[in-house]
Amino acid sequence: MQRLPALPRKYHAASVWLLYVVAFIPAVYGFYLGATGRLPGNPVKEFEHLLGLWALRFLIATLAITPIRDLLGINWLRYRRALGLTAFWYVLMHFLTYMLLDQYLDFPAILADIAKRPFITIGMTGFLLLIPLAVTSNNWSIRRLGPRWGKLHRLAYVVAAAGALHFALSVKVVGPEQMAYIALVALLVAWRPIRRRFNRWKRGSESRRQFSKA
Ligand code: HEM
Repeated sequence: MQRLPALPRKYHAASVWLLYVVAFIPAVYGFYLGATGRLPGNPVKEFEHLLGLWALRFLIATLAITPIRDLLGINWLRYRRALGLTAFWYVLMHFLTYMLLDQYLDFPAILADIAKRPFITIGMTGFLLLIPLAVTSNNWSIRRLGPRWGKLHRLAYVVAAAGALHFALSVKVVGPEQMAYIALVALLVAWRPIRRRFNRWKRGSESRRQFSKA
């Protein structure tokens, strides 16, 4: 398979910052459209939906980094933290839009929503689980927590599953879009137990190839 040309090391940091800039374009553009009255229908709902969808996309992109490396040999590990943190910022913006623009900080109504509407309860659970992941997404925490860091960050799968379920339950009829997100998250979750065996098999077949060439 033709490999992608590797990005020179000196551009790694800049490419991560570029990713942050590009990743926030949908939020900024959505806000601009909403503020200038160019979002169709209910602009608050449209903006809330846009932020929720991008949150889910970034969660999925974060979890896709490992299978992309395993299956395609492309190492985008340096972008994983930026993608995960971007997902967190999108969920936070989604939540704040709901609190401020949708519910006007009506706390009794917000608490009733969280307690009584299962899709909001699940979304809130995802958001709460995402907070410790965002707070520990730095080198200091990785050093400090050691092997516990990896265990904690496995929660990212639970968050993505909660996000996809929240999306499916937020609509009256589950359509192909919600199914597609559920299927993607299911594939990413399923890859975790398979990957060790797959990588062992890949290493074995590579060394067999080297051996037969020699
Ligand atoms: C991991 C966290 C979350 C993710 C990934 C997420 C994602 C989404 C997605 C994809 C949608 C549907 C967008 C569409 O229909 O195009 C949505 C809708 C919504 N979410 Fe979230 N969400 C999360 C957390 C939350 C939280 C914490 C709240 C509030 C407590 C919330 C409240 C809502 C509401 C009110 C809607 C709109 C439902 C409607 O159509 O009326 N979400 N979310």
